[in-house]
Amino acid sequence: MLIDFDTAYMNLAAKLENVVPQAEIYLQAERVVEIERLKKERNAIILGHNYMEPALFHSVCDFKGDSLQLARISAETTADVIVFCGVKFMAETAKILNPTKTVLIPSDRAGCSLAASITAKDVRELRKLYPGVPVVTYINTYAEVKAESDVVCTSGNAKKVIESFHSDTVIFIPDEYLAKNVARETGKKIIVPTLNPRLSRPLEEGVSKVLIGWPGKCEVHERFSVEDIQNVRKQFPDVVVLAHPECAPDVVEASDFSGSTSAMIKYVKESKAPHYLLLTECSMGDNIVAENPEKDLLRLCSVRCPHMAQITLEMTQKALELMRYQVEVDEGIRVKAKRAIDRMLEIG
Ligand code: 13P
Ligand code: SF4
Repeated sequence: MLIDFDTAYMNLAAKLENVVPQAEIYLQAERVVEIERLKKERNAIILGHNYMEPALFHSVCDFKGDSLQLARISAETTADVIVFCGVKFMAETAKILNPTKTVLIPSDRAGCSLAASITAKDVRELRKLYPGVPVVTYINTYAEVKAESDVVCTSGNAKKVIESFHSDTVIFIPDEYLAKNVARETGKKIIVPTLNPRLSRPLEEGVSKVLIGWPGKCEVHERFSVEDIQNVRKQFPDVVVLAHPECAPDVVEASDFSGSTSAMIKYVKESKAPHYLLLTECSMGDNIVAENPEKDLLRLCSVRCPHMAQITLEMTQKALELMRYQVEVDEGIRVKAKRAIDRMLEIG
């Protein structure tokens, strides 16, 4: 059903009054009306990652969630057009899983420091160096890298995917911190080769139970430190600290909970702490407060992902108006990448 301006304004104001200035709500409501009209005209759905700005997150998204949830939805949708409000590797995953659909990403500048940290050639070099060792690849990578992998995983299922191999040694790329965090959970020793795998050494004889990582980092999560947590705990001794597993291992260890973006949202919604500190992209804190105004969320709010921030309501409207930016994946690469993603979806 199409939405009129008054309803769009009231819906947005109800959620965002304490988060966004009134003048902005007015402007955004006009965009919401137009986007809803275009969605119907194009038979499109909008998928929104949990890091989207509040006005977008709380208005036009048909489905919202973390990487794993959005991948599942993109595989199943019957809409003609998927507008992916997230970063490029996420939109690419949607195209890989559902290639007959038109997949749009509202900005061509929404990259990711993790996805940029590794190439398909790097994976081939790692395989040469560690022959026969299975390759588990974080979903925050481009299609060419997924195509060289045995299976994909997300922050929500990394441990389960690694354990599905019953192999003592596993290559886990490209997030060094996530690898270290999962190594601890799976009782494996971690080895991180240099950026040039040709300079890395093969495993020593007799060494087993190893996770072979890669020195990629999330430029947002690497900025949080244990000192940040200590400072906040000094001021708010009863604060509950939640850290995304892309944070450094000492930060995750000093926190009370670690999980995917959706797992963090669920934790805050379902628990009753006087204060929460979220160590992740800061829009997500605004999005939680908009729906749960009674929760006191402390955030380190200089920490916004510059890539996710490219995706706004304005750019989403333009995407549907101009049918831009269309995501394409070479068919040979797509088929191989899909195999690795399907294997993850089967594992759960
Ligand atoms: P999630 O899969 O937990 O949503 O994480 C995606 C991401 O890019 C975190 O920085
Ligand atoms: Fe990539 Fe980090 Fe941004 Fe997530 S927050 S999209 S991992 S740069």
